[in-house]
Parts: sequence; C-alpha cells; structure tokens
Amino acid sequence: MSHFYFALTNPEAMPLLELEMNLRFPELRKSYSRPGFLTLKAEMSIPFKAHFARISGVCLGKFKLEDLKFPKAWVWKREEDLVIPDQLQELSEASMFKMGEKVTLIMMITQDEYWVGEYQLLRTHFQTPGEVSSIIEREVPSRAYYKIAELYESFDLPFDHQERVLELGSAPGGASLFLLEQDLNVLGVDPAEMHPSITKNFYFKHLKVPFETLREDDFKNGVDWIISDINLPPHVVLKEVHRLEAFLEPKGIILTLKIGEEKYLRSLPFYLEDFRKKGFTVDLKYVPSFRQEIALIALRS
Ligand SMILES: C[S@@+](CC[C@H](N)C(=O)[O-])C[C@H]1O[C@@H](n2cnc3c(N)ncnc32)[C@H](O)[C@@H]1O
Repeated sequence: MSHFYFALTNPEAMPLLELEMNLRFPELRKSYSRPGFLTLKAEMSIPFKAHFARISGVCLGKFKLEDLKFPKAWVWKREEDLVIPDQLQELSEASMFKMGEKVTLIMMITQDEYWVGEYQLLRTHFQTPGEVSSIIEREVPSRAYYKIAELYESFDLPFDHQERVLELGSAPGGASLFLLEQDLNVLGVDPAEMHPSITKNFYFKHLKVPFETLREDDFKNGVDWIISDINLPPHVVLKEVHRLEAFLEPKGIILTLKIGEEKYLRSLPFYLEDFRKKGFTVDLKYVPSFRQEIALIALRS
C-alpha cells in the first residue's frame, strides 16, 4: 500500500527541500510538485518531518471543492492573489486546534486545485494556517527583524530583562532592533555600518570588527546569548561560534545558517551533534521569512 506525504515551503527553498528529501528520505519518491508545494510517495509508512519546510505531514490527496467537507480545517493558499472561496474561509477562521492535535490543512494550489494534508501541531509551529507569519510588517532596518521575531515567537525564547546578547553580523540592525525591543543589551559585531537608529540606543554597543578578531578580554561580563546571521559558509560561522561559546558560556545560541550548497546540508546532523556533545538541546527551524537558510537553536539543557 502506498503512503503519501507533503511539504510546504517558500519557493526559494524548493531546491534545498528536494535535496533534503533525497538525502534523508531516499525511500520517498517525488509524486507532484508546484513552487512551494511538494508531495512524496513511499511504499511503507514512515515518520516524516522535513527541515526545509514550513509544514510537512501526511498527504490525504487531491480533493474537489465540493468534497472538502471537514468539521474543522485550516486553509492555506500557495499564492497571495488566489481567492479562497467564502465557505472555506469561514471554515478556516472558525477552526481552532490545540497543541499536540492533528491539524487538517486544505492547501489551495491554484484557483481550482485543492490538496489536503494532516500534521501534528507542535509548540514550535506558528498557530496560523500554512505557518504564515503573524508578525505585522513595519519600517525596520532590515528583513532580519522578522527572522529573529519569528524564531522568538516559535521557540518562546527565554530572554530575560537586561540580558546580554552578542550579535554577530549585526549590520544594518533589524535583529538588533528586535532584541533591544525585548529589553536586552546588545553588543553588535560587524565591520559594516549600523543604522543610526540603532547606534543611538543606549543599550547597543558596536564593535566594528570581523568576529574572527574577538578575544576573551573584549567581554567584561560574559554574555547570555550568542546570535548570528553572518553571511559566511556555515562551517566558518560554527568554528568561530564554538571558539567564543567555550569561554562565554551563553545559555543559548541562535544561528541563521546559509545553506547554499549540498555539502552544508549533508553536514547538518554533525553541526547538531557538536552542540549536543556540549550539553545543549538543539533544534532546527525554517521560519516564514527565510529563504535558503535554516535556524539552529541551541539551548543549554
Ligand atoms: C545578513 S547580514 C546581517 C543582517 C543583520 N543581522 C541585521 O539584523 O540587519 C550579514 C552580515 O554579516 C556581516 N559579516 C560578514 N562577514 C563578517 C565577519 N567576518 N565578521 C562580522 N560580520 C560579518 C556582513 O557585514 C553583514 O552585515
């Protein structure tokens, strides 16, 4: 008997998602795909969760509009300009799912093509149909504001009042703005210029140097968090983060890793293992504002 699975992602991450499927789930065969939507088939039932997906789960198949009769379901549309039929919009808005519950997700691929999937609602999922970001857009120094805001929301990150954050690759300052709004002290490290609205904040300090030059005496009081969004290959970022983490002993590390090549995707399990060996609980998360990147969240156990 055949089993079907689905994954939703951002169109820019489709090549990474397909590569991940080949590496981690060789028993799955690609069945159908559209930008941002993939279905897969296996001859046996498997536990399926994709890293490079906003949502992944069991696929119940393609449905006609008149057959979409569910007591409750969320509806996601693949493109902004698709118009969800009124009865489905009403169903989606009236449907509530609790943590741990199985969500029925109606996926609108084109104006008259619907697929249905099921996934278990986890704490780290956005509680919205299709994991659409619930963070309101506003004027910020960079898109990185949304990346850290979405990770904060997904993981309910335990930031405490006045904790110290070492932010690597901080310019121009989208993430710094979010961290300052959370009442944190931010030490931003980046050879590039920060946005003036950030540098004038009393709780922000800028070290205008490459992170490879940081030494123990640059830190008088240690740090509680290391956050990085540096646009260098993951192995370069991780080497430096491990060097810094060994003497700074932060309670948590949040890294956005740019996974441009297959070799970095293959290395992900090793990256995770390196943190586990040091006593961290680790997780990966693809948030709605990501492109070809993934967050590694390491929290001291
Ligand atoms: C994606 S941007 C970071 C966006 C930033 N986090 C924000 O919130 O606006 C990547 C940054 O990494 C910085 N970067 C690249 N190499 C670096 C290095 N060796 N040390 C420190 N920063 C570096 C770049 O200057 C760039 O500003």
